[in-house]
Amino acid sequence: MPAYFDHNATTPVDPRVLETFTETAREVYGNASSIHHFGQAAKQRLEGARRGVAKKLGASPREIVFTSGGTESDNLAILGSVRAGSARRKHVITTQIEHPAVLNACQELHREGVEITFLGVGEACVIDPDDLKRELRPHTVLISVMHANNETGAIQPIGDVAATAREAGITFHSDGVQAGARVDFDVNRFGVDLYSISAHKMNGLKGAGALFVRETAQIHPVLFGGHQERDRRPGTENVPAIAAFGFAAGLPPIDVGELRDRLEQGILASVRQARVNAKGSPRLRNTTNLCFRGVSGEAMIIALDLAGFAVSSGAACSSGSIEPSHVLLAMGQSETEAKSSIRFSLGAGNTVEQVDALIEAVSRICHVHRREKVYA
Ligand SMILES: Cc1ncc(COP(=O)(O)O)c(C=O)c1O
Repeated sequence: MPAYFDHNATTPVDPRVLETFTETAREVYGNASSIHHFGQAAKQRLEGARRGVAKKLGASPREIVFTSGGTESDNLAILGSVRAGSARRKHVITTQIEHPAVLNACQELHREGVEITFLGVGEACVIDPDDLKRELRPHTVLISVMHANNETGAIQPIGDVAATAREAGITFHSDGVQAGARVDFDVNRFGVDLYSISAHKMNGLKGAGALFVRETAQIHPVLFGGHQERDRRPGTENVPAIAAFGFAAGLPPIDVGELRDRLEQGILASVRQARVNAKGSPRLRNTTNLCFRGVSGEAMIIALDLAGFAVSSGAACSSGSIEPSHVLLAMGQSETEAKSSIRFSLGAGNTVEQVDALIEAVSRICHVHRREKVYA
């Protein structure tokens, strides 16, 4: 049975989550906007899930907007909050290491005439809160800084970002698609105004996500239709997937920190010239991203797949060729270094035996690959 080490891409569905989905799809098929009994039963499930997701984030249920996933939540937060304001000149601050869901939403705003600043990061993969302060302008309307990076796991100083945003009266959005699934988080303790999460990163199903929208934050819809989600996100709600999301949100985060450390230390001890990217930074406890000098990341992924291990390069795969990761490039790595890096992300189901076998496989593949290169 192949071992799955790609939980940041997506997670296996918890059987109880799947049961919630199938039971709801079978028994509660009404449209949550209908007045009759069937509709009200669906509405009840929807509101139960809303309470579950709100509880996870320390929010009020009124502050939860259900969406189709992390990408839509990010788009709604960014496009929705910037378009809600009436100011003529607008400026947004984000970072170079965001997920494309944020980067490309910002690019879209740029096409509409909004100025965008992309904060850089050093090799630690963490922004400097002083850089943020320096970039503030009188017409800055939104700051969007991810909570934890999906490729390196580096956790950003969002408490500091929130304090800066609050002082300057600027809306603060954080993409919590990875962190929200892996750490206990309270929107009020951190003081974010908008926070994106996605069910399939927390052993839920694909196609359901949520945006926390603080009562005081203004957002404009990005889709137009009916009055669902209090006029913020139209469309008949996917009640079975949302009910399953509500269940998944109630599951305690899985701590695989010890396994991740075992993997990291085992690889560093057995593979020459291996390096952990963003090693010194606070990181998600399930993620490690390693650079194997002189080994192609793409070749390593394929060889590991053949050996029964699913990992990822953390790089976007477009039109069949693997591009170097924009995150690793932003950290100052060369294209070659970025293309020699692999992301291992752990979660439910991983065992010590799998980790030890993975260390062995990585060590063997690096050895073979480097020897072949020398004699080729
Ligand atoms: C940090 C981050 N933001 C947004 C997304 C997009 O989420 P979804 O796949 O639910 O659209 C992802 C998915 O990998 C992610 O890692």
